[in-house]
Amino acid sequence: MSHTDYKLLESQMTALLGDEQDALANSSNFVGLLYNAMADINWLGIYVLRGDELVLGPFQGQTACIRIPLGSGVCGTAAASLQTQRVADVHDFPGHIACDVASRSEIVVPLLVNEKLVGVLDIDSPSLDRFTAADQEGIESVCRAFCEILSRSAGFI
Ligand code: SME
Repeated sequence: MSHTDYKLLESQMTALLGDEQDALANSSNFVGLLYNAMADINWLGIYVLRGDELVLGPFQGQTACIRIPLGSGVCGTAAASLQTQRVADVHDFPGHIACDVASRSEIVVPLLVNEKLVGVLDIDSPSLDRFTAADQEGIESVCRAFCEILSRSAGFI
């Protein structure tokens, strides 16, 4: 069950990132803010699009796999389809890539800057079915605001 106030989180993020234009610094603080604001999660981070694969970017949690081809796993599926993947039980997702064996549910949101895919935000929970439709809506909204801020940068990370 989630009690994250996503509207508050969005305004905290806007205040935290302020006028900064460095995409790496902004992404790192974005990840740190979200990880500490959400209950019952064990991993949260960004995979950055590099060519036709996703590469590990700023994250909080256990060390993770570095490269994920587009179309592979939950992250690669979100990136290839440009659709959020909300997975109640990762063991039921064909091709799920297990980085932290503690992860039981997961949500991955594509990050689009000026309508172009730049990466994904991946959040894992040790609880089954941790992410509700309301969480998805809130996280997508925070991601849109984050991408709007990223559009001020010359490039992504
Ligand atoms: N589970 C992801 C891989 C990344 S880790 O969860 C950090 C996937 O299936 O794409």
